[in-house]
Amino acid sequence: GTVLGIEGTAWNLSVAIVNEKNVISEATDTYSPPTGGIHPREAAQHHAKYASAMIKQALEEAKEKGIRTSDIDAISFSQGPGLGACLRTVATAARMLSIKLDVPLAGVNHCLAHIEVGRWKTPAEDPVTLYVSGANSQVLAYRMGRYRVFGETLDIGLGNAFDKFARGAGLSHPGGPKIEQLAKQSANYIPMPYVVKGMDLSFSGLSTAATEALKRYPIEDVCYSLQENAFAMVVEVTERALAHAEKNEVLLAGGVGANMRLREMLDIMCEERGASFYVPEKRFMGDNGAMIAYLGLLMYEAGDTLAIEDSHVNPNFRPDDVDVSWRK
Ligand code: ATP
Ligand code: FE2
Repeated sequence: GTVLGIEGTAWNLSVAIVNEKNVISEATDTYSPPTGGIHPREAAQHHAKYASAMIKQALEEAKEKGIRTSDIDAISFSQGPGLGACLRTVATAARMLSIKLDVPLAGVNHCLAHIEVGRWKTPAEDPVTLYVSGANSQVLAYRMGRYRVFGETLDIGLGNAFDKFARGAGLSHPGGPKIEQLAKQSANYIPMPYVVKGMDLSFSGLSTAATEALKRYPIEDVCYSLQENAFAMVVEVTERALAHAEKNEVLLAGGVGANMRLREMLDIMCEERGASFYVPEKRFMGDNGAMIAYLGLLMYEAGDTLAIEDSHVNPNFRPDDVDVSWRK
């Protein structure tokens, strides 16, 4: 089959066309807020403005590769979790396309799309996934028809904790990459709050403590300590999920996964446990249309499609609410 998918849970608007083998085309436009703050309404307006251009671009690029609009079997869209206004804009575009092309609609859980694109584009078969992005931080694994959330943040996502600290420190948005560069220049660990409650995580106190520490320590030391601390927390929960879920693979997903120190720490943990560690290509790690199109394809093939009247979005859509139709 061939599916056109639209991602738009947050800042990124991305349209892709995929089949079982390949990403045929992808067109992306990112909204960049003028101040780095949160402007969901503006992001939604951005998506509304560029949706038709991105859809056209993806269709044209596919045509150059011999895939015509009439070859498209279904339309998929990110149904949640995400910013309500953004989700609604993207869902509207998807519904219109589905009616126009007279093909079914598939509503995709954004978190599960990160996992499935990783299983597609790496050798990972049945991994524990660490999904760390701006808004999300979760550890998930498949068990008996569902992706279970083994642990997750109780407040903000790890990327947002980094970005918040960075803003306070006068670094430009996004903060994660700048923190990574500064952290490389230090090996002086300042104790920071390490908050793992059961299998769950909390980052907001850590972000505040790091901001406080700037009054007394060089920014390099603070960035180093912030990273070491936050990554030790997520690696601990990932390691325990491996044991609980009885898996022997770890898959990394989400924008924070670009961080080389996080990868190194996960790699060491996996090595010690005899587990395999997989990181997809960068284009499949942050939010991308290909992952929405790909999970849409799996759902379409499983007959898991939506009537227009059932295609409402869900800003709090939990991955463990999804009855997994595409894996047996
Ligand atoms: P989602 O909707 O899934 O939460 P998002 O809009 O946050 O996605 P992503 O691209 O998945 O988008 O992640 C962006 C986050 O990743 C930002 O918070 C950014 O600071 C962080 N990030 C990017 N590169 C790095 C890095 N090298 N180290 C640490 N964090 C990073
Ligand atoms: Fe994401």
